[in-house]
Amino acid sequence: MTQDFLPQQPAFPTSRPRRLRRADWIRRLVAEQRLGVDDLIWPIFIHDETKNAPIPSMPGVERLSIDHAVAAAKEAQQLGIPAIALFPATDPKLKTDTGKEATNPENLICRSVRAIKAATKNIGVLCDVALDPYTSHGHDGLLRNGEILNDETVPVLVEQALVQARAGCDIIAPSDMMDGRVAAIRQGLDREGFQHVQIMAYAAKYASAFYGPFRDAVGSSVNLGAGDKRTYQMNSANGDEALREVALDIAEGADMVMVKPGMPYLDICWRVKQAFRLPTFAYQVSGEYAMLAGAAERGWLDRTKVAWESLLAFKRAGCDGVLTYFALDVARMLADGRQS
Ligand code: PBG
Repeated sequence: MTQDFLPQQPAFPTSRPRRLRRADWIRRLVAEQRLGVDDLIWPIFIHDETKNAPIPSMPGVERLSIDHAVAAAKEAQQLGIPAIALFPATDPKLKTDTGKEATNPENLICRSVRAIKAATKNIGVLCDVALDPYTSHGHDGLLRNGEILNDETVPVLVEQALVQARAGCDIIAPSDMMDGRVAAIRQGLDREGFQHVQIMAYAAKYASAFYGPFRDAVGSSVNLGAGDKRTYQMNSANGDEALREVALDIAEGADMVMVKPGMPYLDICWRVKQAFRLPTFAYQVSGEYAMLAGAAERGWLDRTKVAWESLLAFKRAGCDGVLTYFALDVARMLADGRQS
């Protein structure tokens, strides 16, 4: 397809592609993509404890106290990271069948947003909208007779988005995959005067085994048990359907869209960007991080090099940015003037 536009190339030995790889300076000069700090969104985990706690399945990542989350946000801001995404590890005692803690204006997320917003000036705060950190069954929506209820869940998600917006959240990111939730959230936000609050829809979110370590981090794996999310998250076999999901979310008012997970779905990133030309993000999820960071911890891979290479792949696939647990590593490297 693209071949039509390529000039005819002379053959070897006239053509020697290695000429443009001879030295660092020429490689930099002809590089097609660049990874910069502006491409990064840093997801962090917060818990209601005074000390940080490591997450064994995510080497190098910790659940942070609110105070440490504020310090992390300040460091991210100083390094130039444009936005952070907050995820709560909810006290198991607060988890219920209906996940009502999600709509408590004093919940961990709302308190964290207020604290971070009070301490920073130029960093965006993104909050997930979904019930799974708050439900005793670990699902993203309300559950009745084994079914995740769509239309009953949507108003709860709107209320969850509203408590987050009132706390000062800049980007509402619905990750629940209920149908119609983007439109309902947009209406709810606008009704309360939150016209400026952005929506980044987890538009093409797959039912993925790569979320395992995240569920450890927020403590929802025990709740979900042997259950899975295949009645609402997408089937990994499908690509065309991702385009339909994204089209719906855009029609419902999404400002930005996301593909998740990232690396196993680079084809989807590419297709979404080509089809819609909207700000498009990928989530390099916990399992992707665990593979790379875990192997690096054993000395099998070079952590910063594989982080860099994996993130550059998202740029090549057309993404405007990436949610990545490597964000701080990469931002520090960039601040030191290092690339990979
Ligand atoms: C919640 C949510 C999940 C992730 C982000 N938001 C888990 C899930 O859907 O089970 C996963 C992120 C990651 O694995 O890093 N709905």
